[in-house]
Amino acid sequence: MSKFGPEYVRAIAPYQAGKPIAEVAREFGLDEASIVKLASNENPFGVPASSQAAMTKAAADLGRYPDANGFELKAALSTRYDVPADWITLGNGSNDILEIAAHAFVQKGESVVFSQYSFAVYALATQGVGARAIVVPAVEYGHDLDAMAAAIEADTRLLYVANPNNPTGTFIGAAQVEAFLRQVPSNVIVVLDEAYNEYLAPEHQFESASWVRNYPNLVVSRTFSKAYGLAGLRVGFAIAQPPVTDLMNRIRQPFNVNSLAQAAAIAALDDKQFLEKGARNNAEGYRQMTAAFEELGLDYVPSFGNFVLVRVGDDDGAGARVNLALLRQGVIVRPVGSYGLPQWLRISIGLPHENAAFIAALKKALA
Ligand SMILES: Cc1ncc(COP(=O)(O)O)c(C=O)c1O
Repeated sequence: MSKFGPEYVRAIAPYQAGKPIAEVAREFGLDEASIVKLASNENPFGVPASSQAAMTKAAADLGRYPDANGFELKAALSTRYDVPADWITLGNGSNDILEIAAHAFVQKGESVVFSQYSFAVYALATQGVGARAIVVPAVEYGHDLDAMAAAIEADTRLLYVANPNNPTGTFIGAAQVEAFLRQVPSNVIVVLDEAYNEYLAPEHQFESASWVRNYPNLVVSRTFSKAYGLAGLRVGFAIAQPPVTDLMNRIRQPFNVNSLAQAAAIAALDDKQFLEKGARNNAEGYRQMTAAFEELGLDYVPSFGNFVLVRVGDDDGAGARVNLALLRQGVIVRPVGSYGLPQWLRISIGLPHENAAFIAALKKALA
C-alpha cells in the first residue's frame, strides 16, 4: 500500500475497463482478427465516414492547440439542443463531465447520492474528492428515484442518475424523472447521465436538455462515444444553466477536447444516416441476443441501451467462469462482479455475425 496521498485516494479501487483485443490475443494465444469484442458498449460500425473526413482535414493543423472554448462544436450543439452556447461544457468523454461535476460542486466530507448497480465512475468521482457515497438500493436493477430523493442529507451536494443505466440497461420515463427533479432541493446538483440516449426508441425519447431551463440545478450529460461511434476520441458534453456551467468550466482543463475530436464530433452530429443505421442494428441485435437467452433459459434485464445484462448461472462464480470460457474462444464481454453482480455478464450489441459468434461461444461455455 502506498504511503503517499490522502487515505480516500488510496482507498480507490481502479476502474476495470473492457480487455483490449491485443491483450486477449496475447494471453490466450489467439489471432487478433478472430476476436470479437462486445465489452465496452462501443459502436460496432466504428467511426462514421463523415467524421473520418473531418479529421483528415483537421489533422493538417495539429501543430496548434485545439480551440479551448470549442466554439464550433458548441455552436453546433447549441443549434441541435436549442440552448445558448454558454450553457455547454465540453468534456474529454462524458466521463470527464462526471468528474468535473464532483470537483466543481462537492467538498471533502460532503455526500453524493447514486444508485446501487449504477455506472462505476460515480463512485470513483465521489471518492476522488474525498466525499461520502450514499448508495441507494436498486429496484429491479434500476434506480429507485423516490428513495434517492429521500436519501438526500443536509450535506448532499450532488446526485448522479444514469438513464438508461449502465450496466443494467434500465430506463426511467420522462414523467418520473421530472417528478424526481421537482423533489430535489434546488441547492443540490443533479447530473442526468444520458450516455445511451440516442439508442432510445422514438416513443421513449424526450428532450431533457429543455428541462435545463426549468431546473437551475440540472446538468444533462451526453457523449459521442456510443451512438456516434467516437469512443476513442473522447468527447462528451454537459448542458446546464450559466451559473453551473461557469463553475464546471473553471475546473475543466483548458484543452480537454482535442482538435480531431472537435472536428469529428461536429461532423457526426449531423450524420443522421449513421445514427439511424446504428439504432436499427442495435434493435435487431437486441432481438437476436434476447431470443438466444430465452432459448437457453437465461434471465436478462430488459435493456434500453446498446448492451444487455444476462445471468449466466446461479452461483457467485458463474460470471467469472463463463467469462473465462468465452475469452478462451476469443469473445470478450464484461464481467460485472465489481458491480455486485457476480452471476451476470454484460454484453454489448455488435454486428449480426459478432452477436452470433458470442451466442455460439456462450452455448459452448454453458454446455
Ligand atoms: C452511463 C455511462 N455514462 C458515461 C459513460 C462514459 O463514457 P464516455 O466517457 O466515453 O463518454 C459511460 C461509458 O461507458 C456510461 O456507460
